[in-house]
Amino acid sequence: MNSQPSIKRAQFENVSLSFDTPKGILRVVDDVSYDIHDGDFIAVIGPSGCGKTTMMSMLAGFQKPTTGEVLFDGHPVKGPGPERGVIFQEYGVFPWLTVKENISFGLKLKANHVPVKEQNQICEHYLALMGLSDFANSYPKHLSGGMRQRLAIARAYAVKPQFLLMDEPFGALDAQTRANMQNLLLKVLASEGKTVMLITHSVEEAIYLASRIVVVTARPARIKEIIDVPFAYPRDESLQERPEFGELRSHIRELVMSEYRAQQAQMRPASFSE
Ligand SMILES: Nc1ncnc2c1ncn2[C@@H]1O[C@H](COP(=O)(O)OP(=O)(O)OP(=O)(O)O)[C@@H](O)[C@H]1O
Ligand SMILES: [Mg+2]
Repeated sequence: MNSQPSIKRAQFENVSLSFDTPKGILRVVDDVSYDIHDGDFIAVIGPSGCGKTTMMSMLAGFQKPTTGEVLFDGHPVKGPGPERGVIFQEYGVFPWLTVKENISFGLKLKANHVPVKEQNQICEHYLALMGLSDFANSYPKHLSGGMRQRLAIARAYAVKPQFLLMDEPFGALDAQTRANMQNLLLKVLASEGKTVMLITHSVEEAIYLASRIVVVTARPARIKEIIDVPFAYPRDESLQERPEFGELRSHIRELVMSEYRAQQAQMRPASFSE
């Protein structure tokens, strides 16, 4: 994963996006440029509401830039595609399907070419891996928030997309499950060699998982700093005890905190003075 990959899978080229809102034009992403190479693991971190999901949704094919271009494998992104698996911030599960049907859903799509025999095996595998076997025939409304999130992860992993777009996939999980899910993701990546773009609010998670961290500013999201994470894969949790991990964490925390402060200042009423 950290062997200096060189094939460009995704490119943000001077990308800006504004929403036309009742209160006027809201600029959310501002002149963002960076490349994601094959095998990269990019973590995007920045204050709430700054434009991270919007940025990812352009690569997923759900939003179009106002100016600039988002390319995937050298072509402008025109819509969603099976090679890009998305895990949404708000659990991407279908409420009208059971847990098992949710996992099988993508496998049954013709574009994914999974033979019928294999569909069941894959489904059982991920049910067990995510601790959901006992709930195979339950509907999402009968699951806890964390279980729904694990189901969303299982759905995305099951179809083995080459490129994973993950929007705060572990946010609703307890600390231990979150650590398990992080380690599982590292394992999946080691065996399947994927490219990942992950949005997170956790600096530790970003450093532990990513090969590169894109720190973005308060809205509108601009690139504040892109940091190469200097730790080789495979990684294990002992990494988090190393002094270099702590130093990087302090540096990134400070970057993120300064953007939170900038955001707070923006939100403060003009008449307010300290
Ligand atoms: N469809 C839309 N129309 C108008 N405004 C929108 C739309 N989608 C998002 N926004 C606004 O764009 C800004 C950025 O939203 P976005 O969801 O990208 O933030 P985010 O960085 O992912 O935040 P969080 O960390 O809280 O998930 C927010 O102010 C939001 O209100
Ligand atoms: Mg978001």
